[in-house]
Amino acid sequence: VYPWLNKEHLQNGIAYLRIAELFEAAIRSGKLPNGTRIPTHRELARALNLNIGTVSRAYLEMKHRGLIESALRLGTYVRTNLGPQPEASGASDVVDLGTNTRVPVAFAPLFAKSLAEIAANEGVIHALESYKPIGGTALHREAAARWLSEPQHTVDPNSVLIVDGATSAALTAISATCPPGSTLLIEELSYPGLKLIANVLHINLEPVSMDDEGMVPDDLARAIKQHRPKALFLTPCLQNPTCVIYSKARIKELMQRVTEHGLWAIEDAVYRPLVPQAQRAPRLINSDYERAIEISSLSKCIAQGLRVGFILATAKMQQQLTARVQALAFSGPALMAEVASRWFNDGIAQRFLAMHRDSLSARTELAKHYLQHLGLISHPFSSHCWIPNLTLQQSAMLHADILTQGVRLRAGHEFSPNPARMTASGLRVTLGAARDIAELKIALNKIRSVLDRDSVSQAVYA
Ligand SMILES: Cc1ncc(COP(=O)(O)O)c(C=O)c1O
Repeated sequence: VYPWLNKEHLQNGIAYLRIAELFEAAIRSGKLPNGTRIPTHRELARALNLNIGTVSRAYLEMKHRGLIESALRLGTYVRTNLGPQPEASGASDVVDLGTNTRVPVAFAPLFAKSLAEIAANEGVIHALESYKPIGGTALHREAAARWLSEPQHTVDPNSVLIVDGATSAALTAISATCPPGSTLLIEELSYPGLKLIANVLHINLEPVSMDDEGMVPDDLARAIKQHRPKALFLTPCLQNPTCVIYSKARIKELMQRVTEHGLWAIEDAVYRPLVPQAQRAPRLINSDYERAIEISSLSKCIAQGLRVGFILATAKMQQQLTARVQALAFSGPALMAEVASRWFNDGIAQRFLAMHRDSLSARTELAKHYLQHLGLISHPFSSHCWIPNLTLQQSAMLHADILTQGVRLRAGHEFSPNPARMTASGLRVTLGAARDIAELKIALNKIRSVLDRDSVSQAVYA
C-alpha cells in the first residue's frame, strides 16, 4: 500500500500497534499530508493479508492518538488539525486514564488572585517587560531553592536554573551530558518523553532492567560494559510507570557503579514532592557526587499548565547547562516563575501539595478497591498505578480491549525504548485525568470487567 508499510514492517511487535506506529511516523514526518484519505479497513486488511479486526484495532488506536478522523461516506482521513498530542480527557467519549495529568484541585481561584496581585504591582509588571537573567532572577531562584530544599539538603540558589517544565529541563540535562551518537541508560520502562528527546538529540537509549527497589545494579554493570554510555537517567521517587521508590541501599549501589565509570547521573524528580520526606529515595544530587543533575517541575504537584521547571546541578555542570538554557530560551518563564515564587513564599504551594495528596489518596483507594486483586502497584500519593506481570502481547491486547470499552490506558510497550526486547510488560492506570470520582469509578469498573473476563488475564492471575 505504502513503501513504509508492508508485511515485513509488521514482523517485530504487535501488528495493530505497528500499523498505528508506522502511520503516526508517516503522518508526523509529512509523508502522509493532513487531509489525505487513507484506505478503508477492508482495503488495508486485504493488502497486508491481515484479519480485518487487526486493522480496525489499528485505526481505533490511531483515532485515539488524534491522528485520523472518519466522515460518513467520505472515508477516513489524516486529521487536518493535527495536535502534538492525542486529545486529552473531556474532548471525546473515551475516559482518559492514559495521560498522566495532575488531579483536579481548586487551582483557578488562587491563580486568579495571584495574577490580580501581580497586575496591581507596577514594579513587577515593569520588570516583566525586559529579559531576565538566564535561568531566572535572583529572587525567583531563592524562592525555588527554598521549595527544593529538604532537611538533609539545603539547595543553593546559585545551583538552580528555572526553565519551562521538566521536559525542557530533561532535554537540557541530556544534551549537556550526551553528545549526538552517544548512549543514555534508562529504566527499562520510562517516561515516554525520553524517546522524543532522544530522537531530536540523536542519542541512543538503552534500557536497564528493574526490580521493586529500582534499577538492577548487575544489569547496569552489563549495560555500561556493553554500551559505554555517557549518562544514566533515573526516576527514584514514584518511577513512571511502575511506582517504584528506590531503596537507600539501591541508590548507593547504583551510584558506586556510576562513580567507578565516571558517568553523569540525572534524577527526574517530578514526583518527588508528592512523597512524604521520610519515604523519599536519597537524592542523587546530594550524594557528594559531582556529576549529578536533578530535574523537576511543578507539573505533578501544582499545575502542568504553569510550565515552571527546575534544573539543579553541581558547579561542575553549571556553565554547560547555563549555555544550553541560553540557547534554548534565554530567560525563562518569568511571569509563571513570579506566580510560583509568591506561592513558595506564602505557603500556597504547600497548600496545593496537600490538596493533591488528599485527592490522590482518595483516588488511589478507589483504584485499589477495583484492581487490587490483579496485583495493582500503587502509592497513596501517586497519580499513576501499575498492573504488572503481563507479557507484551497480553498488555497490548488488554489495552485494546479496554479501549473498546471507552477507557484509555497505556500499555507497557509505550514506555519502552525497544519493545521487541521487553521482558515483561503491564498496564499503567492514571488517576488524575478522570474529571471526578464518579467518572473514575465507572472507568475502573470497566477495566476490572475486562481484566476479570479476559481469558488471557485469567490464565495470568489465576
Ligand atoms: C517522569 C516524568 N518526567 C517528566 C515529565 C514531564 O513534566 P513537565 O510537564 O514538567 O514537562 C513527566 C510527565 O508526565 C514525567 O512523568
